[in-house]
This record gives sequence, structure tokens and C-alpha cells, in this order.
Amino acid sequence: MVAVTEKIKSLRQQINDHNYRYYVLDDPVISDGEYDQLFRELEQLEELHPELIVPESPTQRIGAEPLEAFGTVTHRLPMMSLANAMSDDELSAFDERLKKAIDNMADIEYVSEPKLDGLAVELIYENGTFVNGSTRGDGTSGEDITANLKTINAIPLALRHDKRSIPTLLEVRGEVFIRKSDFTSLNNHREKSGEPPFANPRNAAAGSLRQLDPKITATRSLSIYCYQAGSIIGTKFNTHWEFLQSLQDWGLPVNPEVQIAAGIKQAIAYHQQLETRRNDLPYEIDGSVIKVNSLSLQNTVGVRSRTPRWAIAGKFKAQQATTVINDIISSVGRTGAVTPVAKLEAVEVGGVTVTNATLHNQDEIDRKDIRIGDTVVVERSGDVIPKVIKVISAKRPARTKPYHLPASCPVCGHELHRPEDEVVYRCHNHACPAQIKGHLQHFVSKNAMDIDGVGEKLIEQLVDQDLIHTVNDLFHLDQATLAGLERMGEKSASNALASITSAKATTFARFVFALGIRHVGEHTAKIIEQAFQGDFEKFRYASFDELENIDEIGPIVAESIIRFWQDGANKKIVEACFEMGITFQEHPEMLPQTLAGKTFVFTGSLEIYTRKAAQELVESRGARTSSSVSKNTDHVVAGAGAGSKLAKAKEMGISVLTEQEFENLLKEQEL
Ligand code: IVH
Repeated sequence: MVAVTEKIKSLRQQINDHNYRYYVLDDPVISDGEYDQLFRELEQLEELHPELIVPESPTQRIGAEPLEAFGTVTHRLPMMSLANAMSDDELSAFDERLKKAIDNMADIEYVSEPKLDGLAVELIYENGTFVNGSTRGDGTSGEDITANLKTINAIPLALRHDKRSIPTLLEVRGEVFIRKSDFTSLNNHREKSGEPPFANPRNAAAGSLRQLDPKITATRSLSIYCYQAGSIIGTKFNTHWEFLQSLQDWGLPVNPEVQIAAGIKQAIAYHQQLETRRNDLPYEIDGSVIKVNSLSLQNTVGVRSRTPRWAIAGKFKAQQATTVINDIISSVGRTGAVTPVAKLEAVEVGGVTVTNATLHNQDEIDRKDIRIGDTVVVERSGDVIPKVIKVISAKRPARTKPYHLPASCPVCGHELHRPEDEVVYRCHNHACPAQIKGHLQHFVSKNAMDIDGVGEKLIEQLVDQDLIHTVNDLFHLDQATLAGLERMGEKSASNALASITSAKATTFARFVFALGIRHVGEHTAKIIEQAFQGDFEKFRYASFDELENIDEIGPIVAESIIRFWQDGANKKIVEACFEMGITFQEHPEMLPQTLAGKTFVFTGSLEIYTRKAAQELVESRGARTSSSVSKNTDHVVAGAGAGSKLAKAKEMGISVLTEQEFENLLKEQEL
């Protein structure tokens, strides 16, 4: 029993330490998989010994029963809000007011912090244990959301005391938010399951915290940064900076972007710099917060009724504006997806003039009831296409009608289809001029048919002059036609022809990939080649079940292939390609698929192999290769001069191999 007690204690300690490294120090040392392993081990032991479970065990974050309603919590000290400064001048005026108030013209030291766009909460720790958490509410009292806050892994259930002793009472305020990437996956998931997406990360965070069932909150990947003291008993600080440092020592996450500014000039420089980086940060912010660092000086200048005099929020330029929808058109993308686009009365948003905004799809239009003539709020963030956030219904003119996407492709007239698993309508006509350029570019690309004499410019000309309509038309081109094109001499025409001709001798996988069947990428094309042993006829007439039975091919891919062949135009294109002399190289000898399911990333310069050869070596054994490191990466092979990918792999605890180790791994495969 002693051994079990010790083991459980050690597992809890390890899990808490890893959380701390991950959320506070931003320096994890184990992979997600290893973390999950520890967690499962603890869960199993606690299941066998329920008498040893304590409320602050990391396994106890989820599990509280759903509530009927939230209780009310009165804040010991009111949770104030911040006065806003809309310009640099207003920030300078804030500094001057303070200097006047203290009758001293020396520079005031500030702490600059990002102004997170989430939801303010208060956390209460008594003798180091998390006992209560609440929303800001009206500032005086808020809702008791303790159970929901407990599900946020970044919030320690017990404070650390290895670096600094713990106060009897610690009230700390912070912002709960959702990272942009977590927001995107949450909304993707919601769309797939037919739930309305959240309009922005702030709403997503607020909606998640206000769930009566903490189990739902637990699925939401919420984050938190702490930034302000409430009432504290048992410790004293001289500065706000010292307070923030102490929070980190106690295991509470503080935004790593916080900085000391020696005077208002530096604070303004920080603000401007942050605005330029705004869209690169992994979470949304709407300004910077500038706080007097000295706590005694804060005391001297004091507070107004709702806002402190010692702090100010410098706001960034709004990324939203109001304008009118003059028209709605549909644009057809390279993959045939039809996207409704609102043509707007020109409006300036965050310093850029906006005239178009995406309306995403019919579901979005219906949900927001967007109509031509409506006054709408548009938002622009980062490089993304501006979007319509909502309709201001009070401003709707009389006699507007709900908007419906056209039933046929606005470019070629082909009937539009909506695949069952999707929200977009698609034009399946491969000869649709809106798609043909994209198809051709894909068809000739390096990893497809590799026709390097035919580039983007030439494709533009050929399609615009009606010389080709489908990919197989490429094989009909002749010297005279090509040489007759603008900016094409005899020489470049014959180069183009030569590369078209030599590309006819290709491989099964390249050709299948080149066809641009939805969901059939390079890797899937290779799997198909292996599965049908290079027999195109077998692939051509394969049933849904035959396809779905292939390892790594699921129902979506199988369905997409079947749909591709149902389209008569596609059949004709493929037949025409064969008639024009497409041939496949002998089906390569199938190696044992010893690396199936593994993903490799190669980075830096390799010496033993070329990058391409190394990739082919692992792919021929069933592995995938990728150009970026993610949690799906199994091995990163790093050559000389490897940089950010190597750093990321180390940070994420992913296996990093030298080229020599990689070679050893390949040798092991051959045994
Ligand atoms: S300090 C007395 N610091 O802004 C000071 N607030 O308008 C109270 N906020 O309700 C807040 N980032 O939701 C502070 N680094 C930061 C902040 C921040 C975002 C929010 C918070 C607060 C609102 C005040």
C-alpha cells in the first residue's frame, strides 16, 4: 500500500510538473503520447484505490455533475475594467496625467501586456488550493464557474511551493481565451456535426465557460493567462512585475509577451510593435494594457468608480466596420467549390479598403439571413478574406428576399451538387473553364505528370484562347500552334512539346494523382497503385467495397473515386489520355510495408541521400513524408543547417534522427 501511495503521489507530481513546463514555462520535455501514458497510469491506479483519490488530483478536473444554474460569487475586491486610449496621443496624455498627479516629471516605469480578447475570470486559492473561480459579472459579483475552470489544464489545482512560499489567500484575475487554431478546429467539428459555428474566438470561449455541464467545457481546449491581483493575504509585493513573476513561480500561466517599459515612449513602441504582430500571435488581442509598475505609486494615484487611474488599455484599429451589400455573386474555385461573395460598398477596415467579403456557403447565408441590400458588420483579420459577421436587421430595406445560390455553375452552367458530407456546392464539370486552369496546373506539376515545359503563363494562354479544354488536349498540341502564341518562340514551343511527349511515359501513381480526384493525394495514389498492382482497369472498375477494403482508404476517399468515374466527362478524358499514348512504367516491386503509418519530415541538407531519394525510400516502405512538423510527425531527419523544424521537433518531443541514424533505421527494415 505504501508503494502504491508513493507511486500515485509521484505520478501526480510528474503530471503537474509537465503541465507546469507546458503551460507556464512553455518548454515541454515529453510528447503528448507520453503525457497521456502517465495520465492513464494514474487513472488506473486510482480506479483500483479510490480511497486514495484527492480533489486536487489531475484526474479530478472533469467529473462534476451538471448544474441547474450557476451560483453567485461576490468579489472581495471589485473587478474593475480599463479606460481606453484610441491613439498614441491618448496614451501620452495618460502618462502626463499621472506625472501631474504625482507632481513629478521623471519617467514612470510601466508593465506592458497584450490585451487578450477573451473573458475575465477570478481564481481563488486558499493555502495553495484552488477553491473557487468566477466570471467578472458586473464587476461586483459574478457567476460561480469553479467546475468549468477546473477542466482547464493550464489552471493548477494546487499552487507550487518549490520556489516561493504560498500566501494564505490568493485572488488572481486572468483572461480565459481560445487559441485561433483551437477555435478553427472547434468550428470545423461543429460544422461537421451540424451545429452552428461560433462567430469568433471570444464567443467560443464565453460559450464554453458558461456551460452548465463541465464535461462539455472540458472538450473545448481553453487557455488562460493571469494578469492582475485581487486580494492577497500573506505576501507583499513592491511591483506588479514582481507579482507576475510570483504567479509563474506558483505555477500560474502569465503571457510571455509581458514586458517592462522604462517610460511611456517604450510602452507606445511596445503597443505599435504588438499591433504589427497582432495577426501572427496564436490568440486574438485587441490592444495592449499599460500598468504602472510600482504598487505604491498605483496606490497614490488610486482608482475612479469603475476604472483604475494607474492603468489604460491602448486599443488597436478596429478590424470591423459597417457597410452595405450591393450584390452577391458566386465564384467558382479551382476545385469546383462555389463560394458566395458579397460585393460591398467600399469601406475601410483596419486601414485597408474592403469591397468583397466571403459568405462561405448557403448554410451560413441562411443562418445569418444575409440579403442583398442589407447593412452588415464586416470583419477583417490578418490575411484572411474579410467576412460578414452579422446583419443589422433594423437597417434592412423593404422588399428584400432571402438569397439562394444558383442551381447551376455560374461559369459553365453545369448543375451544382452538394456532397453529403459537405456544406459547399460543387461544379463537377472538369471542363468548367473556372476549373480547367487549376486542373491543368495540377496535371503538369512536378509530382504529377511533371511536364516542366508547360508553366502557368502558357496554361493561361492556352485556355483563354480556347486551345485546350481538358487535360488530354495537351497531347494534341503541335509546334505551329505553340510557336504562334505570344511570347513563345520556336525554341520554347519545341521544349514544351518535348516535355509533353516524354511525360507520356509515366507511372500509375503519378497519373492517378494527376487526375485530381478529390481526396486522392500523392500518398493515396501510391497506395492505390500497390493495391491494384499497377492494373489500371481493375482500379477503373473497382467497387466501393473493394476500394474501402484497402488499408488507409476510408469511405470518403472511396466515395470520391466512385463519383469521379460516374462522370462521363472524366471517363472520356482518361480514355483520351490512353489513346494519346500514356504508358505506365512496370509496377515497382512491392517492398514490405514496414514503415506503414509513420510520417517522416526531412530537414537540413543531407549528405548520404538526396532529399528525394530519402523520401522515396521511406514511402516505398509505406511511410508518408511531410514538409512540416506537427503532432502527427513520427521522425524528423535533420541534416546540416536544420533550423526551425528541428527546433519545433525538439520542443514537441518528436524523435529526431541524424542521417546516420536514419540509415541505420532503414537497414533495420531490411532484416
Ligand atoms: S487588467 C484593473 N490586464 O480587459 C485592471 N485586463 O477592460 C483590470 N483584459 O475585464 C484588468 N487583457 O477582460 C487587464 N492584460 C490584461 C488584460 C485585461 C485583457 C480585459 C479584461 C478586463 C478588460 C478591461
